[in-house]
Amino acid sequence: MGTDAARYGDVFAPVYDEWYSDLDDSDFIAYITRCRRGDDRLRVVELGVGTGRLAEAFVAARGHVNDLYTGIDSSNLMLERLAEREMSISITAIHGDMATALPDGPFDVVFCGYNTIFNLPDDDALARCLHEVVRVLAPDGDLFIDVAVPMPHVVEGSDAVSPGPRAVLRGGHKILSSSTHDAKSQTVSGEFVHFASPTDVRRYPWSIRYWTTEQFDTIAAQSGLQCVERVADGVGTPWTPNNSRHISRFRVAT
Ligand SMILES: C[S@@+](CC[C@H](N)C(=O)[O-])C[C@H]1O[C@@H](n2cnc3c(N)ncnc32)[C@H](O)[C@@H]1O
Repeated sequence: MGTDAARYGDVFAPVYDEWYSDLDDSDFIAYITRCRRGDDRLRVVELGVGTGRLAEAFVAARGHVNDLYTGIDSSNLMLERLAEREMSISITAIHGDMATALPDGPFDVVFCGYNTIFNLPDDDALARCLHEVVRVLAPDGDLFIDVAVPMPHVVEGSDAVSPGPRAVLRGGHKILSSSTHDAKSQTVSGEFVHFASPTDVRRYPWSIRYWTTEQFDTIAAQSGLQCVERVADGVGTPWTPNNSRHISRFRVAT
């Protein structure tokens, strides 16, 4: 794999489940399964499936043994973790870049959780990914994304998102976290540093490219998708520009 796409996963695979097992985004899965509750047998593809954290939640929430679940990820190390996960249905794991080619559908549901779409590096990559989504969606299929909303004071404001390193807890470990913001390229880059012992210092660099909801909708529309619902959480609270997260549902534009 071209290694830029694999970088995040390869760096974080060894610690991902330990650090992020307590994330509270299961309402995203509840939202998707509620939207598609009438389907007896869903054909699903998750973009950036990683270690299968959301896949496991999805399969448990659905409880439909006939669903067909595919996950694509650019990191072999993440997919190795996925293969170790015990699931009640088997998952088809594809090693690939979601901006290059998605597995042939048709899929009833394409979804991308936990800001994973922000792993794409630029507008071109996002547009290619969304064109692929249009290609593989079933006629009544849905794309669901769960993503942070960059606040105006960040987009228009200073380049420093997190001034200086600060301590955060991850998987019970104290980790130093720092990040910088480049407003022009709409990227935030950062690093976690874990002092596992005085002689064992582990570094976890990361970088995201963010889009505002308006920018995202414009690229989606150019790719042939229209947003049919936008909510602030998985309960269905109507979204307003003051919300820091959006769950959005897209369909092929008619
Ligand atoms: C934040 S993790 C999310 C994993 C999982 N969906 C979850 O919520 O726990 C992002 C995942 O996306 C993968 N990824 C990043 N860029 C990708 C790309 N261009 N194509 C496919 N997967 C990608 C990473 O390897 C990583 O596994």
